[in-house]
Amino acid sequence: MAKITVPGIRSRKGGARIKMVTAYDHPSAVIADRAGADIILVGDSVANVVLGHEDTLAVDVDVMVHHTAAVSRAKPDALVVGDMPWMSYHVSAEDTVRNAGRFVREGGAGAVKLEGGRKRLEAIEKVIDAEIPIMGHLGLTPQSIHTMGGYKVQGKQAQAAYELISDAQSLAGAGVFALVLEAVPDKVAEIVTREIPIPTIGIGAGPHCDGQVLVYHDVLGLGSGDFQPKFVRRYANLADDAVAAMERFFADIESGDFPSDEETYHMATDSAEILAGLADLEAHAKQ
Ligand code: KIV
Repeated sequence: MAKITVPGIRSRKGGARIKMVTAYDHPSAVIADRAGADIILVGDSVANVVLGHEDTLAVDVDVMVHHTAAVSRAKPDALVVGDMPWMSYHVSAEDTVRNAGRFVREGGAGAVKLEGGRKRLEAIEKVIDAEIPIMGHLGLTPQSIHTMGGYKVQGKQAQAAYELISDAQSLAGAGVFALVLEAVPDKVAEIVTREIPIPTIGIGAGPHCDGQVLVYHDVLGLGSGDFQPKFVRRYANLADDAVAAMERFFADIESGDFPSDEETYHMATDSAEILAGLADLEAHAKQ
């Protein structure tokens, strides 16, 4: 497969559905890419999913660039998008451009994503001016957890839906190349998808988006918690498979079945020289 680019994703509007998944490290990027991902998002969900934090507010640019670089080192055909963490695009437009630049230069990302609507326009325009493509993110924006009062479906009332649609139009007008819609009613996602000229990528936003995204660990059943949002479809139970495999390993240690002869290095016992050397060492040790 050829390298997937920002213009390539942009041209998928209304066409073949875009397949996006998160990944946070080299092996997960290899797996996502082998499976045919169009976009690998190095999401700030790394905070909850991998690093065990309560929310995404815990990670900063250093952490996100570190994980983005690990994903990029897998050299995926998929477009790598680095997720800008909380406080990396809220202070000033200059600060935002500098931080976005780190995702490209140090992280190897082809684009960045940030959350929010009209109030982010100045920063978005500056980043695009610096030739860094941006993906938008509206609806449930986890970095706004305290303002939203929890992780709740957004745009359920007419006024909120109207604001979300007009935010989407503003972001598209500013030049973002794709837009994540998270936890919004299907009707709202359908209208946004119809009204803007760039691809929408849904997570808990129903079937009408131009693409879909889920968190890697949710798809594979690798999560450590019991909570599973309504919109997650789990395609494997790798956490259970991993525990079962590890239990077999430990049982083999206990029984002495591991390591076997084939899993063991041997001396070249036919070498008289080595045997004589060993006998020498033994004799010395006894003195
Ligand atoms: O951080 C993340 O994983 C995300 C996706 C849920 C879109 O932003």
